[in-house]
Amino acid sequence: MSNPSDHPQPPGTRRPPIAWTGIIDRYAEFLPVTDATPVISLHEGNTPLIRVDRFVEACGGGFELWLKFEGLNPTCSFKDRGMTLAVSKAVERKAEVVICASTGNTSASAAAYAARSGLKCVVLLPKGKIALGKLAQALMYGATTIAIEGNFDDALRIVRELGETGKVEVVNSVNPVRIEGQKTAAFEICDQLGCAPHFHFLPVGNAGNITAYWRGFKEFHTAGRVDRLPRMFGFQAAGAAPIVEGHKIDHPETVASAIRIGNPASWQGATDALNESKGSIEKVTDEEILEAYKLIARTDGVFVEPASAAALAGIFRCAKEGKIPEGSIISATMTGHGLKDPDTAISSAGFEATVLKPDTREVMKAIGL
Ligand code: F0G
Repeated sequence: MSNPSDHPQPPGTRRPPIAWTGIIDRYAEFLPVTDATPVISLHEGNTPLIRVDRFVEACGGGFELWLKFEGLNPTCSFKDRGMTLAVSKAVERKAEVVICASTGNTSASAAAYAARSGLKCVVLLPKGKIALGKLAQALMYGATTIAIEGNFDDALRIVRELGETGKVEVVNSVNPVRIEGQKTAAFEICDQLGCAPHFHFLPVGNAGNITAYWRGFKEFHTAGRVDRLPRMFGFQAAGAAPIVEGHKIDHPETVASAIRIGNPASWQGATDALNESKGSIEKVTDEEILEAYKLIARTDGVFVEPASAAALAGIFRCAKEGKIPEGSIISATMTGHGLKDPDTAISSAGFEATVLKPDTREVMKAIGL
C-alpha cells in the first residue's frame, strides 16, 4: 500500500493524516460500542511487539520470544486499553465521577482519561506502596488522591461499596468494559505475529488482564483470524500469590508493588483461562523478578517495571527447566514501563554514576582508554 507521506505535497494542500486513533476505532466490531458512544481516547494501543533474541540466548535458546511492550501506551501501562472504553462508557452514561482503587497504574490511567473527558476522578491508593512515577501521574492529571492506611484489597472493597451508592462510576476491572478494552492487546499480538503464539506469559495481580487476553485470543479464533489458541501462563509474586496458593493472602508483600494483591477480583476469570487453555499459574520470588528485570534491560534494551518482569522470570525458569518445546513462538506482556518505578531501578542497578572533575583525561582514565 502506498503511504501518503511518501509522495510530494502539492503547495496549499493537506495530505490525509495517517493516524492511529486508538483501540476503540481499530477494533470497534469486537467492542461494546455504538455510533452513540463518545470515544475518549489518547490513541492507546498499537504498541510494539519486540523480538528479544539476546534474552532468549540467556535462557538457553531454542524458542522465539516477543514482548508486547505495553509500557509504550499513553500513560505507560496496559491499563489505557481498558480505560479508554471505561471512560467512554461512563461519559455515554452521563456519569460525573469515576473512581478506582489502584496499586498505581489504574489510577494513572483513570486520572488521564478522566482529565481528557472532563470527568472528576477519585483514586484510592495503598499508602506508601505506590511507585513514584505512578503517584506523580495521578497528581499531575488532577485526580483527587486518597492514601488508604491498608492494602489494595482494602481500597478495592471501599471502592466497590461506594459504587453501590450509584453516585460514582467504578473503573476498576470489576467494571466489565475494562476487560473488553484490554482484550485488544491479544488481537494486536495476533495481527503483529501473523498467527497466534503457542504460549502467552503475563504477570497476574488482580487477574483482569489474564482474563482479558484469554477472551481476546478466543474471540479472534472464533472470528477465524487465527487458527489456534495459545496456552496461558500466569506468574504471581511469591509473597502475593493467592491463586497459586489457593487462598486469599491477608498481608501480600512483594517488590513488584503493582501486583501486591491478596484477593484478586477476577480470580474466576483467571482460573477459567488457565483451565480452558491448559495453561498454568506459578509464583516467582522477588529475587527472580529483580534478576529478570535487570537482565531484559541489559540484553535487549527493554526497561519494564518489576511486575512485568515476573513474566520474564517465569519464562527464564521454564526455559532452564526444559519446559519450553523447541521452536515455540512465545509472547509475553510487558505491562508497564520501567520509568514508573525509579526507586526500584536505581536500587537494583547495582552501581552508581562515577563522579569526576570536568576533565577529559580523568574520564579517559575512568573508562580505561
Ligand atoms: N503489571 C502491572 C504493571 C500492573 O499495574 C498490574 C495491575 C498487573 C501487572 C497485573 O494485572 O491486575 O490485571 O492481573 N495493576 C492494577 C493497578 C492492580 O491498580 O494498577 P492484573
